[in-house]
Amino acid sequence: MPERRPRLEGKVAIVTGAGSSGAGIGNGKAAAVLFASEGARVVLADMHEERAEETRALIRGEGGEASVFRADVTSEADCRRMVAAAVERYGRLDILVNNVGISKRGSILDVTEEEWDRVMAVNVKTMVLASRQAIPVMKETGGGAIINISSTAGLRAHHSTPYSTSKAAVIGLTMSMAADHGPDNIRVNCIAPGLVYTPMVAPRMDEGLRRRRREAAPLGTEGTGWDVGWAAVYLASDEARWVTGVVLPVDAGLTIISPITYEPLAQQTWDQAAGG
Ligand SMILES: NC(=O)c1ccc[n+]([C@@H]2O[C@H](COP(=O)([O-])OP(=O)(O)OC[C@H]3O[C@@H](n4cnc5c(N)ncnc54)[C@H](O)[C@@H]3O)[C@@H](O)[C@H]2O)c1
Repeated sequence: MPERRPRLEGKVAIVTGAGSSGAGIGNGKAAAVLFASEGARVVLADMHEERAEETRALIRGEGGEASVFRADVTSEADCRRMVAAAVERYGRLDILVNNVGISKRGSILDVTEEEWDRVMAVNVKTMVLASRQAIPVMKETGGGAIINISSTAGLRAHHSTPYSTSKAAVIGLTMSMAADHGPDNIRVNCIAPGLVYTPMVAPRMDEGLRRRRREAAPLGTEGTGWDVGWAAVYLASDEARWVTGVVLPVDAGLTIISPITYEPLAQQTWDQAAGG
């Protein structure tokens, strides 16, 4: 068998939120590490430089190429400088992963107007600000790939109405951007991670909750940032050259089942796990 060429060889990527909010591997960190392992040169953008530095150390340890850029992607000026840095450092821009996002639990009665605005700004507007700097640069070299990180919370209720609303907006934004920029060979897709175990959610978890989250989906296993990262590798690569405007759930099948029909199965698994 001939040796496989790295899937992102020659490409330059920006990953926003390329650090992790705690110890371990988040979605952005995993995507950045996997991109570099597949031959991309990666700009690791994060408002906390030291978090992105950790990602850079992982990449450098594996012989990959990456550099840190401190940016708050809620600022258009920072987004402009971030894209300029990618071009200055590596000469082009092929891939943008809009990964930054914050969660907010509760109903519309539970959140203040300021909290609502903040979630929309961080989860949706950042993608607009970063993308509109990236698109003209991608156009110059014949195209590119943008990957927006949504959530299965954007596809169904999640007891997190501000978050769910923002993640549903990301899906609408992805489809519109895909249509708008397809003629420039810029593909825009979105990943909807399910109940993955990452530093973002780890502080809210105990063993019982982790098990319930695992058993909620047909595959019955726990997902990690790596699962999201591999989906991003595919969507960023030329293997996906004819794929645009899709929402790819990475969720162990969580969104294909209905709780009422699935409940007995989940219960069975639960009993087995308990030795029953
Ligand atoms: N973990 C899950 O269970 C889960 C599930 C579905 C979707 N998601 C989505 O995945 C994405 C993030 O995943 P992660 O695991 O990388 O999260 P994370 O919280 O571990 O890391 C996000 C990084 O973004 C940085 N950041 C936050 N605000 C920023 C800003 N304004 N500018 C620049 N950097 C900023 C933080 O410093 C942090 O290093 C989010 O969009 C989230 O909604 C996560």
